[in-house]
Amino acid sequence: MNSVPRHIAIIMDGNGRWAEKKGLSRTAGHQQGVKRVKEIVREAKKIGVQVLTIFAFSTENWNRPKPEIEFLFSYLDRFLSEYKDELIREDIRFKTIGRKSRIRKTTLKNIQDMETLTGNHKSFLFNIALDYGGRWDILNAVSQIVSDCLSHKLSRSEIDEKIFGGYLSLREIPDPDLLIRTSGEQRISNFLLWNLAYSEIYFTKTFWPDFDAECLNQAVSAYSQRERRYGKIYE
Ligand code: IPE
Ligand code: IPE
Ligand code: MG
Repeated sequence: MNSVPRHIAIIMDGNGRWAEKKGLSRTAGHQQGVKRVKEIVREAKKIGVQVLTIFAFSTENWNRPKPEIEFLFSYLDRFLSEYKDELIREDIRFKTIGRKSRIRKTTLKNIQDMETLTGNHKSFLFNIALDYGGRWDILNAVSQIVSDCLSHKLSRSEIDEKIFGGYLSLREIPDPDLLIRTSGEQRISNFLLWNLAYSEIYFTKTFWPDFDAECLNQAVSAYSQRERRYGKIYE
């Protein structure tokens, strides 16, 4: 019924539990989790998806132990430097969304360099939500709208869903068609609150480090069987 989703969003969850089950440290779970990301980007691109947004670090994840946070960001640095050649070769645009004000300078620079380097790439958009929270996103949009109204760049009567959406992190990127959450948890955890309004949601018990190309295809196949109604009535 549905074709391949244009935009897939993923809440990559279960790294810690995957590791604990194997008697490993949580960081070993993150390490394995990061390895899955490239495989999922490759497969998504191969099957015709245009945008992949992955939730890598939430505004609430700062409440985790400092060593775990440090590890996650150092692993992100390594991931970016190792991924660079493939992003260029495959014409993949790299982008991040999120508050990011609390991310260390070295990592921020790596991110910005990669965004600039791949800014003109057209074949696929790989988007990472980092220090991201849906509530932050909405509040940030409201704050910018208020500023633009006060400086007469925007008038109150112009504000509709489209204009408002343009102030959010995803801006012109179409809403996710499919949201996947791994690890068995069935919640949104403050991900793209506005943009997920009509996304199809797919929950799987598989922990993120075990989520492979085959698992992605199962999710896409489930999506293709869904009937998206948007509040209307279909036969
Ligand atoms: C997801 O795995 C990665 C991040 C949230 C950074 P978790 O670290 O949340 O793993 P669990 O949920 O504790 O198993
Ligand atoms: C959601 O996972 C955030 C990311 C995957 C980055 P969490 O593990 O932080 O979510 P909760 O705490 O189980 O809701
Ligand atoms: Mg978790």
